[in-house]
Amino acid sequence: MYQQDLKTGYLAEPYKIRVIEPIRQTTREEREEVLKLAGYNPFLIQSKDIFIDLLTDSGTGAVTQDMQAAMLRGDEAYSGSRSYYTLSSAVEDIFGYQLTIPTHQGRGAEQLYIPALINKREQEKGLQRSKMAAISNYFFDTTQGHTQINNCKVINAPDESAFNTSVRADFKGNFDLQKVVATIEEIGAENIPYIVSTITCNSAGGQPVSMSNLEAVYEIAKHYDIPVIMDCARFAENAYFIKQREAGYEDWQISDITKEMFKYADILSMSAKKDAMVPMGGLLSFKDDSLLETFRECQTHCVLLEGFPTYGGLEGGAMERLAVGLYEAMREEWLESRIQQIEYLVSGLESIGIQCQQAGGHAAFIDAGALLPHIKPEHFPGHALACELYLTAGTRGAEIGSLLLGRDPETRLQLPCPAELLRLAVPRATYTKAHLDYVIEAFSEVKKNIHKLKGLSFSYEPPVLRHFNARFTQL
Ligand code: F0G
Repeated sequence: MYQQDLKTGYLAEPYKIRVIEPIRQTTREEREEVLKLAGYNPFLIQSKDIFIDLLTDSGTGAVTQDMQAAMLRGDEAYSGSRSYYTLSSAVEDIFGYQLTIPTHQGRGAEQLYIPALINKREQEKGLQRSKMAAISNYFFDTTQGHTQINNCKVINAPDESAFNTSVRADFKGNFDLQKVVATIEEIGAENIPYIVSTITCNSAGGQPVSMSNLEAVYEIAKHYDIPVIMDCARFAENAYFIKQREAGYEDWQISDITKEMFKYADILSMSAKKDAMVPMGGLLSFKDDSLLETFRECQTHCVLLEGFPTYGGLEGGAMERLAVGLYEAMREEWLESRIQQIEYLVSGLESIGIQCQQAGGHAAFIDAGALLPHIKPEHFPGHALACELYLTAGTRGAEIGSLLLGRDPETRLQLPCPAELLRLAVPRATYTKAHLDYVIEAFSEVKKNIHKLKGLSFSYEPPVLRHFNARFTQL
């Protein structure tokens, strides 16, 4: 094993940092001006005005030297690129999936498989889309959005502990299996075009899903003849948690746990910008040819929407880099160090009385609803906290709450949100312990005036995915 701080038990980073990017601290006056210009929406702040950026861990982390080196091997042939075969062989080797389409990112895969699976149900069984609903432990917002723009509803079936930040459990990302079965029985299996297993479950706080839960969902789906999609941006973190927490897997390699997890799905849809560490990239892969027609339909649409199917949304060099990143994602010592960072941040915040969701895979999720009980959900406590964090410390996080969830597409009423959270996502191998200490210290400052913090209302509200472009006024 490697070096550990004997006083605190904190493990030294198991890598060297040889490429550095400057960051700049600003004054509070500058930040007030910047935030006002950004319409009180941290998404609209220029990154030059941010000191520590915890908006997302997506495409923002460090890449490895082997990934960089691999880029030079890119074969940029328009069709049949050697780099495509390197990537699809890596996918087959790691996940056991035979048919692969590279996409520009996760939603690039979603725009291919989601309409294809909904069309399939409609054509084969003569069903109406408006009666259909897809099920997930919790849909990520783009997966939800793609399902809805194809006129299919979404139903989340999370474990009941998922959004209760005071509950500690090993697998808070699990499906509520009873709810899955009850939903299928209620609306009819033929009306369910797919089930999405999201690992780790981002919206529930990067919480893992157990192997036995993945297996049980797959068995239910097979019984009712519903395809299962593994939405697997953070597959390696999920495998790491299974190794740590699920009986029987203690001695398994991360790569073996990974292969086992993917037995319990038919299709994988991956944003490779997270665990696979690429700045841009995604994958859509089918386990075998049992859904060959759907795969072909995805390939056809890929030509229109992404690019020829042997490069999809990626250049040759990027496919080589991703092939390496998929393997490096599974390095156990890196996963251990990364999860330690999240635990450190969460326990530091909790030690100063900031209630968080149990430490998960990629971020600290602060319970802004508990911290700001005087701000109503419709005035977005998580977003108000994000603005205050920026003003105090030049640090950016993202609301995961009512603002993100949005309105019911039919009634246009705000959907009830299970928790009002502020996510501080930690990019991989990018920030040090001192940066995390700075963020914890910032919250000590924020806490001092917490009762005076005010909510926000829209000055511009986009019709969908409103958190990206909305503008606000302070109440
Ligand atoms: N699925 C999950 C579970 C995700 O977390 C994301 C992205 C996507 C799909 C879509 O992938 O961004 O590559 O198109 N999550 C990012 C985040 C944006 O910040 O958590 P994408």
